[in-house]
Amino acid sequence: MTGKILIVEDDDIMRITVVDHLQLQGWQVHDCTNGSAALTALNQQYFDVIISDIRMPEMNGDQLLTAVKKLSPRTEVIMMTAHGSTQDAINCLKNGAADYILKPFDLDDLTCRVQRLLQIQAIKARCVSLENTVGRRQPLIGSSAPMQKLLNLISQVSQSDSTVLIHGESGTGKELVAAAIHFESSRAEKPYIRVNCAAIPDGLLESELFGHEKGAFTGADQTRPGKFELADQGTILLDEIGDLPLHLQVKLLRVLQEREIERIGAGLPTRIDVRVICATTKNLADEVKQGRFREDLFYRLQVIPLTVPPLRERSTDISVLTAYFLEYFGGERGRTFKLSGDAMQALERYPFPGNVRELRNLIERITVLAPATEIQLWDLPLEIRGIQEDCMTNEEPCQLSTAVAQAERSCILRALEKSSGNKTLAAEILGISRKNLWEKMKLYAL
Ligand SMILES: Nc1ncnc2c1ncn2[C@@H]1O[C@H](COP(=O)(O)OP(=O)(O)OP(=O)(O)O)[C@@H](O)[C@H]1O
Ligand SMILES: [Mg+2]
Repeated sequence: MTGKILIVEDDDIMRITVVDHLQLQGWQVHDCTNGSAALTALNQQYFDVIISDIRMPEMNGDQLLTAVKKLSPRTEVIMMTAHGSTQDAINCLKNGAADYILKPFDLDDLTCRVQRLLQIQAIKARCVSLENTVGRRQPLIGSSAPMQKLLNLISQVSQSDSTVLIHGESGTGKELVAAAIHFESSRAEKPYIRVNCAAIPDGLLESELFGHEKGAFTGADQTRPGKFELADQGTILLDEIGDLPLHLQVKLLRVLQEREIERIGAGLPTRIDVRVICATTKNLADEVKQGRFREDLFYRLQVIPLTVPPLRERSTDISVLTAYFLEYFGGERGRTFKLSGDAMQALERYPFPGNVRELRNLIERITVLAPATEIQLWDLPLEIRGIQEDCMTNEEPCQLSTAVAQAERSCILRALEKSSGNKTLAAEILGISRKNLWEKMKLYAL
């Protein structure tokens, strides 16, 4: 396990002994002799763990601890203290120290404590990354030929580290595709971080992506790592990349070329190892032509271009997706739903301008509102059923009997919708007997 550690100790022999021993673990160990030097070092670089003496001239360990927690809250601090000052150490624990160790101590004991803190930090980082992905790690459903092709491409692309550009209409599942690439790759156990370039105000985006040093600008009262640093070893999804402002496009290009980032105000670059995936609803080639997107960046991003087809071009997926969402939302409500044949046909004919998201939202709504577990045509919104009533809106004349039948059918559907499927009530609205309604429903396959 890698780690960057800073030792703060004024006693030379003690300091050198600890540094030597910790270096043997393969950790990067720095040292200094007093608190203010430690803060200067922390201002310049991030440390995972600081091990500090409590009794030191000028700034004591407790004051250093307070300053460290302000400057770099994620850094853990272990206090070293002599016998007889246990109370000081306990006070430090109250002020945010992670641990303390009594002098003289066994060097292996110290190593174990550092090791444990590094492990906790790794777990915390993993939690952040999981929080980022919860709800997004869903299976990609689809049995149509274009979807099978896409799933195959995802498996291939996952094996490489190349930059991927995912293009597709809104709601087609671009985020699911990005997550699938990450979780099928060798980086699956490492962070997966998503940034929505369109949702973050222009002025904050740079700091969000690259981080900043304390004091880099007004309001920067703490050093903060950016999303690229948080995604180190893992994958970053730059969503809505088409909305990245031009001045940040230059910086992103540099990150992709140099594999280095620079926190705002740092003056020094940090090396990172991040797999970059971008997603966009915009046609970036057009954006390039319009001068809104840098051509050099465009070519860097689309090393591997993936297109997620709209749902209307893979309408055979509608039935599998519907079955999946019915089970999903039905499960949440403890009910088993199914769709009547003509309701399913209506869905398959509908073009779904909002793609899979629209279908998902529709099924969620239906499972809340539908009176029975078999969902009927009249449970669907008018715009979806409406497709079937085209003779009414068609300018071309048709046979009168067809027009009458369609008018009757659509009127019955509306009555059933109004009565939430209650046939007695619907018959009353239509001014016909319940038996007559039943016969007509059978006739029109309702
Ligand atoms: N193939 C699929 N299988 C299961 N669920 C899907 C599939 N595609 C999309 N979804 C669901 O549809 C919704 C929209 O998907 P997603 O957020 O990935 O779309 P998007 O392409 O990123 O859209 P936007 O451009 O608007 O951000 C999500 O709830 C997602 O879980
Ligand atoms: Mg999206």
